[in-house]
Amino acid sequence: MTVTVVGIGGSLRSNSQSERAMRIALAGAADAGAKVVEVAGPDLVLPFYDPSVPGRPDNARRLVEALRVADGVVLVSPGYHGTVSGLIKNALDYVEDLRGDERPYLDGRAVGCVAAAQGWQASVTTLTALRSIVHALRGWPTPLGAALNSREVDFDLEGGCSVPAVADQLRTIGRQVAEFAVSKAG
Ligand SMILES: Cc1cc2nc3c(=O)[nH]c(=O)nc-3n(C[C@H](O)[C@H](O)[C@H](O)COP(=O)(O)O)c2cc1C
Repeated sequence: MTVTVVGIGGSLRSNSQSERAMRIALAGAADAGAKVVEVAGPDLVLPFYDPSVPGRPDNARRLVEALRVADGVVLVSPGYHGTVSGLIKNALDYVEDLRGDERPYLDGRAVGCVAAAQGWQASVTTLTALRSIVHALRGWPTPLGAALNSREVDFDLEGGCSVPAVADQLRTIGRQVAEFAVSKAG
C-alpha cells in the first residue's frame, strides 16, 4: 500500500527557505515509498479560520481534504518573532474542521517538524512550538526534528542544500514520517 505524506510549509517570500527545506524532507518521504503532496506558500493564503462560517474557499477545502486523507505530515515554519508564522498557524487552525472525523485532527499520524529562522534561538523555540501544536492535534512528532539557522545554511532552487548534514537530517525526518505511516498501515 502506498502511503501519502502531506507537506505544509513555507512563507510568501519568493525564495522561501522553509519551503525549499520542506521539499527536501518530502523527498526523503518519497524515497521511502510515500506519495507526497505539497501545500506551500501561496496555497496557504486563507481567510482567518472562523469555525462558525459555513463553507470554505477552494484552497481551504483542498488543504483540509489533503490532511483528512494524509497518512503522515511534514510541517515547516519560518520563525517569526520567536514562534510559528501566522500563515502556518492559520493553516493549522483549519485542522479544526477534522474534529468530527473518525480520525479526528491528526490522530495517529506522524508529523515531522522543521523550523527555519535567522538564529538558533528562534529556530529552536519555533520547533518546540510546532511540536506542542502537533501534540494538541493528537499527532506524533517524529523523533527527529530540525531547527535550521538560515545564517548558516542555504537552500537553492534546484533542491540543493549548502550543508549536506542538514539535507540528511531533513530527508531522515521525511523518511521517519513515511516509515511510521507504513508500519501503521501494515
Ligand atoms: C515577520 C518576521 C519575523 C521574524 N522573526 C524572527 C525572529 O524572531 N528570529 C529570527 O531568528 N528570525 C526571524 N525572522 C527571520 C526568518 O525566520 C528567517 O529569515 C526565515 O529563514 C524565513 O523563512 P523563509 O525564507 O521561508 O521566509 C523573521 C522574519 C520575518 C519576516
